[in-house]
Amino acid sequence: MSFSITWHGHGTFSLNIGGKHIVVDPFFAGNNPAAKTAVSDVAADFILQTHGHGDHIADTVGLAIRTGALVIGNFEICNWIGGKGHDNVHAMNTGGGWDFPFGRVKMTPALHSSGLPDGSYGGDPGGFVVTAEGKNIYIAGDTAVFSDMSLIGRMGLDAAILPIGDNFTMGPDDALLAIDYLKPKVVIPCHYNTWPLIAVDAAAWAKRVSSETEAKPVVLAVDETYTV
Ligand code: NI
Ligand code: MN
Repeated sequence: MSFSITWHGHGTFSLNIGGKHIVVDPFFAGNNPAAKTAVSDVAADFILQTHGHGDHIADTVGLAIRTGALVIGNFEICNWIGGKGHDNVHAMNTGGGWDFPFGRVKMTPALHSSGLPDGSYGGDPGGFVVTAEGKNIYIAGDTAVFSDMSLIGRMGLDAAILPIGDNFTMGPDDALLAIDYLKPKVVIPCHYNTWPLIAVDAAAWAKRVSSETEAKPVVLAVDETYTV
């Protein structure tokens, strides 16, 4: 059994957990300027949706309909996807957890917004802790740093996926603060360098992670895979 994490650029990841494919925030080539993979080449058994913004949900409905994947997200986003012709959804809300065939998913808070691309109300934004194969992986989603991250850290995190791009989410300095609260063994940055507005020198940031925190930085190239 295995748990691997592949970054597709921006906030989009695919997890392979014991052969099951879980795609986080589908935003692929053609929509995502940082992505190299086309959504037509992506396998999905499950989709985790952190919030409703276009840079996270642009390819969700198409991928879900083609693959039949179960979409896991907040109540409002699941209703919206149902209205787009895909009924295979599992609605959750902040603080709740559920055991799926690949592992447990707990929805965590995020300090952000969540409007859907057509202006529909997208509920509250979130993140996820995925527990599988004896590992806890935190996917922060788009968020500011918040001190209650220390409660998430109490779960014992093998890895944390954090936005570092600034402007729309926490930036490099606040991501270091988040690591202090979360205390993950490994930290994987995302949501940077997609556009000039969120340009970050990730290598320089990783050096700071190594020197200023206990976490090991893992800076992935686009389509690179890290096995937890
Ligand atoms: Ni967003
Ligand atoms: Mn975003």
